[in-house]
Amino acid sequence: MGRLLFSCIAVTVLCASVSMALSSYHPSGLTVGFYQSTCPQAEEIVRSTVAKAVSDDPGVAADFLRMHFHDCFVRGCDGSILLNSTKKSTAEKDHPVNNPSLEGFDVIDQIKAKLEAACPNTVSCADIIAFTARDSIVLSGMNHYDVPAGRRDGKISRASDVPKNLPPPTFTVKQLIANFARKGLSVDEMVTLSGAHSIGKSHCSSFTSRLYSFNNTVATDPTLDPAYAASLKQQCPSNANTDNTVPLETISPLRLDNVYYKELLRNRGLLASDERLFTSPVTKGLVLNNAIYGTVWAEKFTRAIIHMGTLDVLTGTKGEIRKNCGVVN
Ligand code: HEM
Ligand SMILES: *[C@@H]1O[C@H](CO)[C@@H](O)[C@H](O)[C@H]1NC(C)=O
Ligand SMILES: *[C@@H]1O[C@H](CO)[C@@H](O)[C@H](O)[C@H]1NC(C)=O
Repeated sequence: MGRLLFSCIAVTVLCASVSMALSSYHPSGLTVGFYQSTCPQAEEIVRSTVAKAVSDDPGVAADFLRMHFHDCFVRGCDGSILLNSTKKSTAEKDHPVNNPSLEGFDVIDQIKAKLEAACPNTVSCADIIAFTARDSIVLSGMNHYDVPAGRRDGKISRASDVPKNLPPPTFTVKQLIANFARKGLSVDEMVTLSGAHSIGKSHCSSFTSRLYSFNNTVATDPTLDPAYAASLKQQCPSNANTDNTVPLETISPLRLDNVYYKELLRNRGLLASDERLFTSPVTKGLVLNNAIYGTVWAEKFTRAIIHMGTLDVLTGTKGEIRKNCGVVN
């Protein structure tokens, strides 16, 4: 009996370690292949839905990448960005930083509906965001990478948490470094992740102060390439009554690549926070390296996104698996 018990334990331990090795444990408590046994088709359901959404509207890829960042920096990667406001409280998604510029929530809802049909109460909304970000990154030309999963969904989303955690485009390099450091992200990771601005767009309101009201004596930010500044003024007139959008990086706005850094070298960074990465001596060398060594940047970007995706995650029995990403159970 004793021996039988012993071999049962040995077999259990062996199986546990083998399955651990297969699904690759991550220090954050997340695992690659988390849904392998509970919902093997989960990642493929996400991938095919994102592929369709991006082929219908290529701009959605940038939304998912930004959504992952905005989810993870505010209360951790817990899907709090997806919760709707209630009568009692305004949610993160309705803070002006996110509303109206952050889109793609309808696609997340479609994905969640398919996942609930295939494997009810299993796949968290927080993991859906991490998967959609990965798929968007890959569809934008980067290499595939495995997403450690097993995040659970938070139950709180407050608009007031947004400005305390997300950096505005007016931040100096010193402020950007401090903001990322609070999340455990290095200076190199901050500069590397800013390369996300190689895709997507910005509303004029996020940078028009650089065009028309730089300081008391100078209207236009002198660190802006003059031809680029002139073109931006055309796209964003000072008397406009709509908040237009322009590409964050003009050369290849649908490709996630290191052209963003090459543009910074040419004084064509759109946001003040972008251009300062090159004008500040603290980060200039990192920008130069990323501009020259595109493959190295791409590898660092993948590692940094995986790291960002582990920030303050809820695992185990914490949080819940939302049935509907817009509302707590
Ligand atoms: C370094 C500090 C950062 C600042 C100050 C910043 C700020 C901004 C701003 C102001 C916009 C334009 C919003 C608008 O007016 O429509 C934007 C867009 C975007 N950001 Fe960032 N961001 C930062 C870092 C990041 C990071 C780390 C990521 C992802 C890893 C990211 C991904 C994006 C993407 C993809 C867009 C385009 C969104 C779209 O096309 O809908 N950003 N960001
Ligand atoms: C405005 O910016 C210009 C260019 O950077 C600078 O030379 C000047 O000192 C600034 N003026 C004020 C009042 O800050
Ligand atoms: C959340 O709000 C959006 C838009 O206001 C709406 O389409 C969606 O159905 C809402 N979700 C839930 C679960 O109420």
